[in-house]
Amino acid sequence: TVTHVILTGGVGSRLWPLSRKSQPKQYLELFAGKSLFEMTVERNRNLANQIMVVGNIDNCHLSKNVLDKVGTSYIDIVEATPRNTAAAIAFAAFASDPEAILIVTPSDHIIANSEAYEAAINEAVEKASNGHIVTFGILPTKPETGYGYIERKGDTVLSFREKPNQVTAREFIARGNFLWNSGMFCFKASVFLAELQAFTPEVYEKSKIAWEANKSGQLDLELSLEIPSISIDYAVMERSKKIKVVTSEFLWSDLGSFESVYDYLHSNGHPVDANGNMVIGTTNFTAFVGLKNTIFVHTDSANLILQKDCSQDVKNIYNALEREN
Ligand code: GDD
Ligand code: MG
Repeated sequence: TVTHVILTGGVGSRLWPLSRKSQPKQYLELFAGKSLFEMTVERNRNLANQIMVVGNIDNCHLSKNVLDKVGTSYIDIVEATPRNTAAAIAFAAFASDPEAILIVTPSDHIIANSEAYEAAINEAVEKASNGHIVTFGILPTKPETGYGYIERKGDTVLSFREKPNQVTAREFIARGNFLWNSGMFCFKASVFLAELQAFTPEVYEKSKIAWEANKSGQLDLELSLEIPSISIDYAVMERSKKIKVVTSEFLWSDLGSFESVYDYLHSNGHPVDANGNMVIGTTNFTAFVGLKNTIFVHTDSANLILQKDCSQDVKNIYNALEREN
């Protein structure tokens, strides 16, 4: 069987105030009445035999609303607290047949060109059945520091480097054989678990204990807090020798920061003024004086004004507000 595992644990803190803990970005109906979560389900439903959602106690009702609307049954794994992607994916793998192929995707990415997407998934499923861990590589367009980088030769991965600094990212781009990691993966459940056990045994052991104590897919808080919070990228991808990359021809954006939202909206006809300033969230006439590449974001309860190239720092505001509350 092929299972589509949807990760939906994040709050999208870099998109505050559009994205909130109570309404993370993947559930916002920003695209013709559809959310990114719904679009993720639609994109994958014919490519897999079943859907598994790994989310958390704060958002499982939001996932349910969408899957009920679409009319799809699914396996629900509800985390008591986010422990990052290594653990989230481990739960999905423990819940699966060891031979099952898992296609793991985030729920908050924009992907266009469904034919190219399908072709990439089919190629990945094939490689995964041969025991490989597959990542989907995107041709980089700038030295982005919020992504993982895949150094490759053909479909062989020479190295995987999660979130390099500016200088290193520039060097990767200049060297020409690096791709961005899209954050989507494909592997056999048993292969992932064996690599996790080999490279990050504590995450493996503690996730296993937590999983074995689950009550109809709901994890226990105390046991979950024991699991080290580490991403699949650091836990497995940077270390495994079983990785293959599928170079992806589809259009991809993780809409992870206002800079990528800006680029996406801009290329879809959303206005910017002569100095590259953009307004999001209001049709009120808004003027920018003496400002360049500024983004103004309006919601009912909060405004954000930011310099586009400081987009990665928005999460600091979110985190500071979280601490106050
Ligand atoms: N269920 C669950 N539980 N999901 C989680 C958790 C968790 O504890 N933590 C994160 N997720 C989900 C997020 O909601 C998101 O959909 C996905 O897993 C990836 O997590 P992010 O926190 O968004 O990772 P990132 O953007 O910093 O980096 C990853 O994605 C990049 C591309 O968007 C890495 O894989 C990078 O290498 C990659 O370039
Ligand atoms: Mg992300």
